Amino acid sequence: MNRDTARAAFYVQKGGVGKTTSAAHVATAAAIDHDLDVVLLDLAGTQNDLATQFGIVDDVEDPDAPISAVFGDDWEFIVDNIPDIVDRMVYDTGEGPDLIPADTGISGADNNLASVPVEQRYLKLDSFISEQLADRYDLVVLDLPGKEDNIALNGIFAAEHVVTPLCPGAFERDQLDSLRDDLEAIREDLGDVLDAHDVHPHLSMVIPTMISGATKQSGEFVEDLEETYPDVAGDSVADSQNIGNLQAEGRTLFAADDDELYQTGKRAREAYRTNTTTLLDHLELQ
Ligand SMILES: Nc1ncnc2c1ncn2[C@@H]1O[C@H](COP(=O)(O)OP(=O)(O)OP(=O)(O)O)[C@@H](O)[C@H]1O
Ligand SMILES: [Mg+2]
Repeated sequence: MNRDTARAAFYVQKGGVGKTTSAAHVATAAAIDHDLDVVLLDLAGTQNDLATQFGIVDDVEDPDAPISAVFGDDWEFIVDNIPDIVDRMVYDTGEGPDLIPADTGISGADNNLASVPVEQRYLKLDSFISEQLADRYDLVVLDLPGKEDNIALNGIFAAEHVVTPLCPGAFERDQLDSLRDDLEAIREDLGDVLDAHDVHPHLSMVIPTMISGATKQSGEFVEDLEETYPDVAGDSVADSQNIGNLQAEGRTLFAADDDELYQTGKRAREAYRTNTTTLLDHLELQ
């Protein structure tokens, strides 16, 4: 499909691998290094992790224009009657990108989508991005749920480009294999709908995260990953305490001064910069 604005979906059917952290850092690098207008969409559940990452969780509580409404039957009515609806949805992260936060209606929206005819079920988010966001933003970054629900499928349809962070762990080999199988299964299950709309979801980048230089497990994981995904394996993001500590303060690595960072933090920041440049190339954004 020919897209009116660039889109990337951070997705894998696995929790705690660095999806939210990676989405936030890539969106921020795209905004500050490449001078792009970027918006992050938090569709990853109700925890509002992206708002926490940017220290604005108190501001986004109880939004008067929740993102979940986009998936509901009343959406057209809302758009017709509230002309500044998108202004009301969007928050400034203070680091470059804008954020449309998660809200408590997302799991209900996922349930309701099950009764929408399959031809329309997965296209709600794509329409919202085209109609409401495309003329404001150069890049839309989606943080998706770590499971294949109707919301995640909306994100995959809307973006086509899937970015998958993975970290070393007990089941790393399985993760690598199942990632490929998951996208293949989506293409098979929804082949007719995908073809009808000329949508081709594919893996654009795999980002190895929480990579510790000191452990054999990390080394083997990165080697495996580069072998399994030679075309899309990105730079390894170092395991760094700085990331969690800064998140607790509501900042990314890009908002920290050099003297606040360990070597691991500097290396992780550099890897996110490089991965962002590679991804933007892939999205033909530079
Ligand atoms: N490079 C890193 N080094 C150290 N810790 C990291 C790194 N990247 C992420 N983390 C930490 O790992 C945890 C999980 O990261 P994150 O929340 O980004 O994963 P996720 O895939 O979005 O998880 P969920 O499935 O819960 O949404 C967080 O506590 C985060 O601070
Ligand atoms: Mg997350």
